[in-house]
Amino acid sequence: MDEDTLRAQLNKYNQGHVLQFWKELTEDQRASLTEDILEFSLSEVTSYFKRANESSENNNKLLDDRIQPIEDDAIKSVTGCDSALLKKYQDTGLREIAAGRVAVLVLAGGQGTRLGVTCPKGMYDVGLPSHKSLFQLQAEKIRRLEVMAKEKYGKCQGITWYLMTSEATHESTLDFLEQNNYFGLNKNNVKAFKQGMIPCFGFDGKILLDEMHSLSKAPDGNGGLYRALKVQGILQDMTERGINSVHAHSVDNILIKVADPVFIGYCIDKGADCGVKVVDKADPSEAVGVVCQVDGKYQVVEYSEISKKTSELRRPNGKLVFNAGNICNHYFTLGFFRNISDYHEEELPLHVAKKKIPYVDNSGVRQKPTSPNGIKIEKFIFDVLKFSKNFVAWEVPRESEFSPLKNSDSAGQDCPSTARNDLLALHKQWLLNAGAKSVQGDVEISPLLSYAGENLKDIPEIIQGPKVFE
Ligand code: UTP
Repeated sequence: MDEDTLRAQLNKYNQGHVLQFWKELTEDQRASLTEDILEFSLSEVTSYFKRANESSENNNKLLDDRIQPIEDDAIKSVTGCDSALLKKYQDTGLREIAAGRVAVLVLAGGQGTRLGVTCPKGMYDVGLPSHKSLFQLQAEKIRRLEVMAKEKYGKCQGITWYLMTSEATHESTLDFLEQNNYFGLNKNNVKAFKQGMIPCFGFDGKILLDEMHSLSKAPDGNGGLYRALKVQGILQDMTERGINSVHAHSVDNILIKVADPVFIGYCIDKGADCGVKVVDKADPSEAVGVVCQVDGKYQVVEYSEISKKTSELRRPNGKLVFNAGNICNHYFTLGFFRNISDYHEEELPLHVAKKKIPYVDNSGVRQKPTSPNGIKIEKFIFDVLKFSKNFVAWEVPRESEFSPLKNSDSAGQDCPSTARNDLLALHKQWLLNAGAKSVQGDVEISPLLSYAGENLKDIPEIIQGPKVFE
């Protein structure tokens, strides 16, 4: 596209400023800026800015009068089920895995800004004795499940591992997988695909420049999944592989039970098209969203969307009324994905995050602001619950299933030290359950040996770390 046409297009949407350094750019830089601009539909992204601001203004209204907890028959908890029922669910999940009908979808496109590392979070080593990365722990859990499914059903077609990456994480994730030989998984069952990007805006609605010749962009949020599944051909790929159940989760929960057969079996048993794992929110001020109903439709409500009084309401048994803490851990059928991607993706709410976004100022100097100067627009994976025809929730114990890596150690919570300690505490408990009398120091169990505490035979009574059971 020539300069005049490009300029006219940009002016139409009040974005002519992005060419302000055109005269100073080399031919290559002009070409790359043009490519950057043409990657987007200007009418769409500028309407995003308008929509995102409108919805953030509407979100100021508290939802207290409109919310209800999850209906009793739509939620069950691990601790409320007897071992026979848990086994039934697990057998169903393993049957689906054996038949090749299960996929895992890890959300690995985030920029990990709070953790403050330049590599994708999945590559992070929290300092376990084995020094395994989050990706390696996840891949090995998949391998272990494949063994368990084969033991139970005589053969196993395997689990497909999809990794949703972004421009920020794609190349390094692929290199990491390749260098590590896909952690022993069948390479054909590992597929990375990129989510989309959205330009970052100043508060005045003008797209920010990251360099004189490039736009500032950020991944479109983990809800970018639904568009990416379609445009990147992943729905098609899932169809060809015969996948029915997808376990989608954040990359950064070190305790994640990847493709949890119990959760999958529960969702299948209930005929659910959409399921969510939750943890019991114990402290009303904990800043996690809760799964509940708004005007009779399932939704995740953020802490800031209800009053303190409502967040503190308790049931007769002492539990919070709104206790179903959302942990970015979902079950979807392929049919549900198709319905969202085909019919509802464009209605997903747009969320605004005010951020400090590096930008090039009017004199061409790159600035790193110390206070928020613009917005990133994101879609959220959980904004689809209301489209479910049969929604279920599954409450799991926090100490065995949820410890996210969000911050650097200086924050003191949801950081590398807590992730590491929570995993080691869980493994210690497994060893004590398996007959150990004393476990001292850092003792880790390879996911290749045990997925959830099973298969621990001939465990010594006294165990001294550092040690890894392989
Ligand atoms: P978070 O927002 O908690 O993690 O996303 P983040 O984006 O990595 O970290 P910050 O906010 O910059 O500090 C929860 C999950 O959603 C994924 C993340 O990778 C994480 O697994 N995610 C987030 C995406 O896949 N794409 C996105 O655009 C945003």
